[in-house]
Amino acid sequence: MCGIVGYIGHRQAYPILIKGLQRLEYRGYDSAGIALFDGNIMNYKQKGKVADLEQFCEGKNIKSTIGIGHTRWATHGVPNDVNAHPHHSQDKSISIIHNGIIENYESIKKALQKRGHQFESETDTEVLVHLIEEIQKKENTSLFESVRLALNEVVGAYAIAVISNENIDEVIVAKKGSPLVVGIGENEFFIASDATPIVEYTKEVVYLEEGEVARLSIKDGFELKTIENVILTPYVQELEMSLEAIEKGGYEHFMLKEIFEQPKSITDTIRGRLLSSNASIKMQGIDSYSDNILQADRIIIIACGTSWHAGLIGEYLLEDLARINVEVEYASEFRYRNPIIREKDVVLAISQSGETADTLAAMRLAKEKGATVLAICNVVGSSIARLSDAGAYTHAGPEIGVASTKAFTAQVTILTLISLLLARKKSTISESYYRQLLIELEMIPKKVESMISMNDYVEDISKKFVDAQNFLYLGRGYNFPVALEGALKLKEISYIHAEGYPAAEMKHGPIALIDENMPIVVIATKKGHYEKVVSNIQEVKARNGIVIAIVTYGDTTVKEIADYVIEIPEVAEPLTPILANIPLQLLSYYIAVMRGCNVDQPRNLAKSVTVE
Ligand code: F6R
Repeated sequence: MCGIVGYIGHRQAYPILIKGLQRLEYRGYDSAGIALFDGNIMNYKQKGKVADLEQFCEGKNIKSTIGIGHTRWATHGVPNDVNAHPHHSQDKSISIIHNGIIENYESIKKALQKRGHQFESETDTEVLVHLIEEIQKKENTSLFESVRLALNEVVGAYAIAVISNENIDEVIVAKKGSPLVVGIGENEFFIASDATPIVEYTKEVVYLEEGEVARLSIKDGFELKTIENVILTPYVQELEMSLEAIEKGGYEHFMLKEIFEQPKSITDTIRGRLLSSNASIKMQGIDSYSDNILQADRIIIIACGTSWHAGLIGEYLLEDLARINVEVEYASEFRYRNPIIREKDVVLAISQSGETADTLAAMRLAKEKGATVLAICNVVGSSIARLSDAGAYTHAGPEIGVASTKAFTAQVTILTLISLLLARKKSTISESYYRQLLIELEMIPKKVESMISMNDYVEDISKKFVDAQNFLYLGRGYNFPVALEGALKLKEISYIHAEGYPAAEMKHGPIALIDENMPIVVIATKKGHYEKVVSNIQEVKARNGIVIAIVTYGDTTVKEIADYVIEIPEVAEPLTPILANIPLQLLSYYIAVMRGCNVDQPRNLAKSVTVE
């Protein structure tokens, strides 16, 4: 959940660390800190954002060509200066930054306390650095070896970077369960939780694998081994990311930039996969497992949050088009429920970050039981992508705003492609319908563009709801998950309580909430149980609720009864979720901005949830 950065080389580390932390701030932003070498290793840390840390460092001696930095999302211990990383050893000679959780830290802490160690913070991380120190002193060994030995004693997840007074020509890094990338420059190394802080300096990277520990030294180069002490050769890859993709590019917020990017991100998702010349779909990863999918008893989709909503749309698509039995599970529930998983099941994980701890754990469980495990991921080289047997990248580009927007529409696009691919193989839809959907899918980026051109109109509508206390979102069929996603987007960035419901369920409870103060967003597009949803709108209006309706262009019926109407282009029903979602993203964005909320970094949230 936290972000880590590091540098060793010939440049000044401080500006690289600060810039890197700003790029990683989406991963956590309740406190931040750095360690630099100034005759001794010095830790500078501060509750709050990276900007607070910068202010705190003003006037301090920050000259150093080695350093590590951390932006925190609290797990063990409240956000404050003391619990912020880096943490140091008892004698202050070693500093560590850590992303993850050391599960057995309490027993280690007690044992260390008995041997005289005193702890300043409430964190599990401080225990780890004391353990490294203890081992180094006892075994009289190098920092590299002490870190390796210490990691053999801990249970849990970690991406760490460690520096010490003893040898300022080295940074020790290790990874298990949390991501860590090393960038390789000319006589310099860059370390980060993801590639965004690195891309500006080098495109040569090594993604550490599970249970690997490395020593990065200017003198000796890149030494890599497993924590079991097996020596390895680092596998250097070329980064595909561009610098522009991770900068705001003139937008006020990353979220708005990412909403506006959707015509391009969806185009990138279908590029090379949807081949209109011969009406075919090419998806190598999925294709290579299509026999497993076609023979499967069912597909179990596992995901969290917005990705889970995409999974629900996937259920409608796969059942409707490919006639495959689908179950959609919250990864966090699935992994602890003793689920029945058979070898003939196909488990499909969906994740933007590819690092969500619950999704990863659910995948491991499914693998243990012998199921085929596929994944839809945005972040290339992420843990989920690497754990899967095969899968498809969404290619939506880096998503920095904490609230997921373009990754969601890309996930739905991939699920549409997979459903169409399987539908054709199974002949569950007619050739003409298949071709029609293919053509319409190819045209979706243009239609999304037309939705985005309604930005000012949606902004105007948003003004009316800045002070709303609650919101209801209703949709039916394919649009039910869109209602859930609309509600999630609003609550996470504007802190307005919002609930999504299948429209027909309204009369089984939520209708009691409706009065003249209750805004209700209803997705009432022409093909999705239209008449029934129109009746629901009438039921709402009969109780004086305020209706914002998402309708198909040219609709006149709903226009007469709803208070506000947002039109979307006509499209085949399975493709409505992509279009209907766009105005809901904009609505929540503008309401949140008008309420003065930090939309890119909503309170208590982080972009990738790498803890349970
Ligand atoms: C909401 C949001 C979260 C994520 C969830 C899963 O806008 O972003 O609900 O969707 O934490 O994350 P990934 O997709 O990275 O596994």
